[in-house]
Amino acid sequence: MAELEPADLTAVAIQVAEQAAQHVRTRRPEVFGSGVTKTDAPQSVSTKSTDTDPVTIVDTESESLVRGLLASLRPGDAVLGEEEGGSVEVPSGVRWVIDPIDGTVNFLYGIPAYSVSVGAQVNGRTVAGAVVDVVRGTTYSATRGEGAYSDDGSGPVRLRTNPIDKVGLALVATGFGYGSARRRVQGELISALLPHIRDVRRIGSAALDLCMVASGAVDAHFEHGLSPWDWAAGSLIAEEAGAVVTIPDATSRSAAGNVTLAMAPGIADELGGLLARLGALEPIPD
Ligand code: IPD
Ligand code: CA
Repeated sequence: MAELEPADLTAVAIQVAEQAAQHVRTRRPEVFGSGVTKTDAPQSVSTKSTDTDPVTIVDTESESLVRGLLASLRPGDAVLGEEEGGSVEVPSGVRWVIDPIDGTVNFLYGIPAYSVSVGAQVNGRTVAGAVVDVVRGTTYSATRGEGAYSDDGSGPVRLRTNPIDKVGLALVATGFGYGSARRRVQGELISALLPHIRDVRRIGSAALDLCMVASGAVDAHFEHGLSPWDWAAGSLIAEEAGAVVTIPDATSRSAAGNVTLAMAPGIADELGGLLARLGALEPIPD
């Protein structure tokens, strides 16, 4: 199929991510109950890279739904997804990079911070993307060169990073991998960083962390070992809101341990320098 304008790809990303988010919203109470007490449904949960890396039946359903919608809306485009995979090579033409639930641990426990992320890449570079905060019902989206927006149902709002200029006041989101060796190094890094910043947040969905940099809900985000489905859409949303963004190569996967970093521009030099001195710009392989 001929390549569309990036804005057309954004419209597809929004449509697909919102439909998948609606499915995830509907299915959570069906599978895990709707009360405040965590309900186990062992038959609906298995694990992946480690015993603490879960995948639920709803992750699988959401990815199937996204793939089905993309096959009908954009037949012939390549797809890379967290659960069903895809080619490591970057294809020519459009590749959709999807995370059917980003924040699966939160989804499992009933913590209201999980999302569906759909990005469109051309030559490994994201040109369009949407992230839907499932519980809030907010859609974040961006088209390369055309800005980033959020929409909670009342119309699009242009996103801008915070006008912060002091690292000492920065609220920094981060996340930790599923393997214990990397987590030890990540923990040491946080203990070295913490005295220099306002505080840290570990939200539990990297895609939402990046959208929160865009909306000003945090001032920066960094994490080692993200895969393209975690950062594809969110990094563009952060960048289009004005963030200074560093992402791994599109062929890089979690095991390589490369850093993803998004910072409000007023603290980018100072925070980037601090992270470099702490060794935080180096990979933390698994
Ligand atoms: C995870 C989340 C989390 C991050 C992990 C990711 P998943 O994705 O984005 O915030 O810290 O590294 O793997 O497993 O919930 O799709
Ligand atoms: Ca993810």
